[in-house]
Amino acid sequence: MTEQSAKLAIAGTDYQLPVLEGSVGPDVVDIRKLYGQADVFTYDPGFTSTAACQSAITYIDGEKGILLHRGYPIDQLAEKSTFMEVAYLLMHGELPKQAELDKFTYTISRHTMLHEQLATFFRGFRRDAHPMAIMCGVVGALSAFYHDSTDITDPEQRMIASHRLIAKMPTIAAMAYKYSIGQPFMYPDNSLTYTGNFLRMTFGVPAEPYEVNPVIENAMRRIFILHADHEQNASTSTVRLAGSSGANPFACIAAGIACLWGPAHGGANEAALNMLREIGEPKRIPEYIARAKDKDDPFRLMGFGHRVYKNFDPRAKVMKKTADEVLKELGKSDPVLDVAKELEQIALNDSYFIEKKLYPNVDFYSGVILNAIGFPTEMFTSLFALARTTGWVAQWNEMIADPEQKIGRPRQLYVGEAARDYVPVGQR
Ligand code: CMC
Repeated sequence: MTEQSAKLAIAGTDYQLPVLEGSVGPDVVDIRKLYGQADVFTYDPGFTSTAACQSAITYIDGEKGILLHRGYPIDQLAEKSTFMEVAYLLMHGELPKQAELDKFTYTISRHTMLHEQLATFFRGFRRDAHPMAIMCGVVGALSAFYHDSTDITDPEQRMIASHRLIAKMPTIAAMAYKYSIGQPFMYPDNSLTYTGNFLRMTFGVPAEPYEVNPVIENAMRRIFILHADHEQNASTSTVRLAGSSGANPFACIAAGIACLWGPAHGGANEAALNMLREIGEPKRIPEYIARAKDKDDPFRLMGFGHRVYKNFDPRAKVMKKTADEVLKELGKSDPVLDVAKELEQIALNDSYFIEKKLYPNVDFYSGVILNAIGFPTEMFTSLFALARTTGWVAQWNEMIADPEQKIGRPRQLYVGEAARDYVPVGQR
């Protein structure tokens, strides 16, 4: 840490604030002791300039379009590693040696099944329930089934809960899908890869053998890796905030799922494909571009823009390439992909999008791929949640182990009434 400090002058008084230095990226002004010395809070709704924690997991340089997990560039991981390697990396800080990877993969595979009674939870939902609604409920309910891994003061229990969450998410997501279409649940097959097993549980049926298509499996592997973690985004911050009160890990991840659901966050993949379908054909694109630029119209180009990336989203590049590969393998042409490519070109050359630094994000092309593979639109955000669970548990573990961690308790700029006396109902 550095000796630098910052000076804040308020009403003629100077306050010295320490400046902390990270390994890369912007320094931070440490304002923890400001309130107490001065009668002020800092104000940053939306956290546009606020570091809420220290973390050694993921680094993003939004200006340069860089995303690193534990120092490794996302495109290298997406190209070369397995999802289990990335999960291990996020959790433990280093890429696993072969023996470590084998042990981790085996451990995860031992936790893929759900307690049998959890199946009855699914039956309590309407068939047309959104899979994210089911996932919020079922993941939260895990805490009622796995009492032996909810003591967050015990590192071993924390690790078991983390393994359970990573292992059971594909099973839960696949069951949510099966329930919606009225097919029997498929038990996991631990001889398959993490992604292969998920594809089989989703698209297989007990009556027939299921062959995993290696191109689809590879595309899913990439999609999962590209979604695995993303620094202190809204859902990860939600997981941390929920966890900061000492809530159990299953409840914290359920909170993360709830936050991810919103269309400004994980729900954007579903919204992006719906938008591309609605546009339907390239000649209608200008109409939608005009709407996106119109201040009086709440419409936004879904899958475009990012709080942090102001150059390009490195995940979107890999997604676009994967979309082409998957459609080629499946021998499909998809008018939606044509609309997406054309829309990207038009937007990238439009002064509104250039000036506001709006580029396609990870969600712009992922929907096209998932659609081609056969996932219904409502499942898209569940797949994001499935993959992001590795990041959530890594961040949650890091937070719990951090001795500086306190309960997250923001303050506010109060703009309501000052103190006043109660008025009896007949006198109001
Ligand atoms: N279409 C049209 N205009 C946009 C868009 C868009 N997609 N995104 C931002 N803008 C405009 C916005 O209207 C604002 O204009 P002005 O300065 O004139 O008021 C300006 O760009 C800055 O936008 P902002 O909302 O202040 O920026 P933000 O950092 O708070 O929001 C965002 C980031 C991702 C929520 C936003 O870009 C957005 O809503 N995008 C569409 C939804 C989306 O694709 N979300 C997925 C994000 S990536 C995956 C994930 O993290 O979950």
